[in-house]
Amino acid sequence: MEPNFKALRKEFPVLQRKTYLNSGSYCALANDVKAAFEAYMEDRLLVGANWDVWITKNESVRALTAQLLNASPEEIAVTASVSAGLNALASSFDFTGKRNKVVISDFEFPTNAQIWHAQEPRGAQVVHVPRAPDGYIPLQHFAQAIDEQTQLVAITQVCFRNGAKLDIPGIVRLARAKGAMVLLDCYQAVGSLDIDVKALDVDFAAGGMLKYLLGTAGIGFLYVRDSFTKSLLPTNTGWFAQADIAAMDITENRPAPSARRFEAGTPPVVNCYAAEAGLKFLLAIGTPAIEKRNFALTRRCMENLEEIGWPSITPKQDERRGATVAVPSRSSGALCAELLKRDIVTSHRDDNLRASFHFYNDENDVESFIAAMKDLRGSFSPR
Ligand SMILES: Cc1ncc(COP(=O)(O)O)c(C=O)c1O
Repeated sequence: MEPNFKALRKEFPVLQRKTYLNSGSYCALANDVKAAFEAYMEDRLLVGANWDVWITKNESVRALTAQLLNASPEEIAVTASVSAGLNALASSFDFTGKRNKVVISDFEFPTNAQIWHAQEPRGAQVVHVPRAPDGYIPLQHFAQAIDEQTQLVAITQVCFRNGAKLDIPGIVRLARAKGAMVLLDCYQAVGSLDIDVKALDVDFAAGGMLKYLLGTAGIGFLYVRDSFTKSLLPTNTGWFAQADIAAMDITENRPAPSARRFEAGTPPVVNCYAAEAGLKFLLAIGTPAIEKRNFALTRRCMENLEEIGWPSITPKQDERRGATVAVPSRSSGALCAELLKRDIVTSHRDDNLRASFHFYNDENDVESFIAAMKDLRGSFSPR
C-alpha cells in the first residue's frame, strides 16, 4: 500500500507557508525532529550530562544508517561530516606504490575532489573523468581513466550541479576488472533513492543527514565494507575510534575492529538526536516508495518545464537522475531570489536553478513552481 503522503505533509510545518523545493540543500524540518532537539534540551536541563543516553543515541544512528543502506552496524562510522569520513579514509591509503591513482569525475562535490587532491603530497595522482558534450559522463569515459594503477574510484552518485545520476553498477564493474576500490559519495541520493551498498558492491559510501535524511548539519556517515574494517589503518583518528573508548590509554593507538576506527572525537551528541528521529521517520515510509514518488514528481516537473519552453538540463531517463531538476538561467541567483519572493524555496549552482523534490512535495508544488517559472521566463531563461 502506498504511504499516505498527503497526511505526512502535515508533519512539516514549513509546507503550510512555502513551496519547499530545497531538500538537495537542506531538508524541511519534521515535527519529530524538532521534538528530538527539544528532548536533548530537556536532558540538558533536567539531567545535565546524560552520557548513557547519548551513547545509545549514537549507536541508534549507526544501526538505523546500516538498515537504510543494507549494511551491518559494524560497517558504519558515524562522522561529523562527509569531509571527516573521507579524511579518515584517505589517511588509511598508501599512495607510494604503483597503485597511486584516484579517479574522480567532473560531477564531484568539492569535498570528494579537494580531499583527494590533498593526498598529492603523499603520492596520489588524481585523474578527472570529463563529461561529454551532452553534459553527461558516459561509461566509456570511465573506462578510459580506470586502469591497473587505479587504487580508488571516488564518484558521486547524483551530481549536485545538474541532478544527473552516474551509472554506478557500470563504473563498479570497470573498477573491479582493474582491481580498484570504489567510494560512493551518495549525499545527493541517500534518502531520496533506494540504496543497497551490497547490491551496488561499493567498498565505501559517504553521506550526511541534513538533506534527504531529514536530520541536521554536523552529522554524517561512512560505510566501510566489512573486509576493510580491520585491514585499513587510519592515521586521522581520535579516542572515539579506539577499540576500547573507556581505556584512556595514552601509550598506544588501538583502533576499533570495525568502521568505528574511522571516527574521531566526542560524537555530535545533539545532532544524533535529530538524525535518529529523521532516520526513523524516513525508514517508516521506506526508500522504495520515496524513490518512486520522487521520480514521478521530477518527471512531471521536467515535462511541464518542456511545455513552457524552458527545459531542464537534467537527464530525462529515470536511471540517470536523482531528485533534483536543474534549470539553466541567465541569472540563477536572481531567479532563486524572485522565486523566494513568491514563497518558493529553491537553490542555485553555477548557471542553474535547482528544484529538489522529496516525498513531502506534491503535484501542487510542481504546479506552483511551473506557474512562477512561466511568469519569470522572459527575464531569466537563457538568451
Ligand atoms: C554530493 C555531496 N557531497 C558532499 C557534500 C558536503 O559534505 P560535507 O559533509 O563534508 O560538508 C555535499 C553537500 O552539499 C554534497 O552535495
